[in-house]
Amino acid sequence: MTIAQRQQALRSEPSETLDPQNWDDIRAQGHRMLDDMFDYAADIRERPVWSPIPDEARARFRASLPSVPTALKEVYREFTDAVVPYATGNVHPGFMGWVHGGGTAVGMLAEMLAAGLNANLGGRDHMPIEVERQIVEWMRSLFGLPEGASGIFVTGTSTANLMAVLVARTAALGSEIRQHGIGGQGALLTAYTSKAAHGCITKAMDIAGFGSDALRNIVVDHNHRIDVAALRRQIAADREAGLKPFLVVGSAGTVDIGAIDDLAALAKLCREEKLWFHVDGAYGALGILAPSLAPRLAGIEEADSIALDFHKWGQVPYDAGFLLVRDGRQHRDAFAAPAAYLRRETRGLAAGSSWPCDFGPDLSRGFRALKTWFTLKTYGTEKLGAVIARTCALASYLEARILAEPRLELMAPVQLNIVCFRYRAAESCKVNRDLVADIHESGIAAPSTTVLDGRLAIRAAIVNHRTDVCDVDALIAAVLEFGAQRAGPGSGVLDVEPSPPLAMS
Ligand SMILES: Cc1ncc(COP(=O)(O)O)c(C=O)c1O
Repeated sequence: MTIAQRQQALRSEPSETLDPQNWDDIRAQGHRMLDDMFDYAADIRERPVWSPIPDEARARFRASLPSVPTALKEVYREFTDAVVPYATGNVHPGFMGWVHGGGTAVGMLAEMLAAGLNANLGGRDHMPIEVERQIVEWMRSLFGLPEGASGIFVTGTSTANLMAVLVARTAALGSEIRQHGIGGQGALLTAYTSKAAHGCITKAMDIAGFGSDALRNIVVDHNHRIDVAALRRQIAADREAGLKPFLVVGSAGTVDIGAIDDLAALAKLCREEKLWFHVDGAYGALGILAPSLAPRLAGIEEADSIALDFHKWGQVPYDAGFLLVRDGRQHRDAFAAPAAYLRRETRGLAAGSSWPCDFGPDLSRGFRALKTWFTLKTYGTEKLGAVIARTCALASYLEARILAEPRLELMAPVQLNIVCFRYRAAESCKVNRDLVADIHESGIAAPSTTVLDGRLAIRAAIVNHRTDVCDVDALIAAVLEFGAQRAGPGSGVLDVEPSPPLAMS
């Protein structure tokens, strides 16, 4: 076939583009979808927080891979019928489980715009990367890190913590380990965090090749903050045994109860001991936006790296994790990997050095920065700080309600926005586990559970900007109602005194 014949043949075939044949139709459909999602957020209180997925709805998602088209309208109907009613529920103000942000209409719109641009932020010279760089700069100055600090968006803090361990590893062993593996020297490295730290730190040590045994989980004080003296003793003992301490991970908001380690003391210790100081600030780090909380994060400005999530207290829609590293060169040394097909030029689209792919494992990367940029610009840090402070005030109100209610027991001091408590009952663990599932299924609220000193606790983490006094009251009412149902009449130890406040230094 000649070139002319090929050209003719291709021209005579129908185009295979995925663009709509009629843009007006998709425009109308798109506007409906947008309106529906605004209504979803605006009317969220009319819905249950969460609903169990009926077998029939689940079965719809066991269908075989479609080989022929379905009208967008039909696909959308499936979404509204079978996905929307059974979503996680964290848009709802009654959602208080785990640590989930509520998202915003602004973040949703920005996510739509990002998808429209379909930018790949792995590298190259385009404005979306400048948006990400803008946020890196904002975070650098917010947390008081020096010029030359670097940052990058990732899925979440689990990944950001893993990357911090990798940066600390390369800093400790030199970039040769990227070729040779951690070897004998690496096998001697030990890291330190508290017993209250998030499990992803252990996982990071495992994935980084050290093994989770190389992580020392140091005891905590009565407020769940790392015992710095015990940490110092453990470091000395490990050095004595010929091991090489290299990393301390402090927590700015522990997952169980929201404790903030003494970051200034950890920073000092790390300086003296020449250790990498990483802060897991998954949700707590953004507490720096609330003037009442910021002083409790003192010392974070001395961190070598900070991990945080904008999708938690920052209310940016999932996902928007972030890693900030004090020394951008060390950050780059851990991840940059030259390749002919990623050559940097002095002009054209491939211009610019240091692309985001030099600061993490991902080459293809979405435009997470846009929804974060829209959120920060549209609301401003003062408003976001006020939202954060209010979640803490609501947690304090929940604490007060628990302390005033003899049938309930506060299980840990309330330090930020997380409240752990239980319904008093003979078989307390079982009763509380069951009543939390009852509450989920009722659609009234969605707390989660944790175990504190071997005792199961109901855990309410107030993260969502929509949560209000009525939602806290509804949670209490539901715990009392389902607790009584589960534990039987006369339960709730009605004759005991209300719990005294737990110690807080
Ligand atoms: C203290 C802490 N660290 C790490 C994580 C993990 O963050 P992500 O779920 O974004 O990976 C969480 C999650 O709640 C957390 O609370």
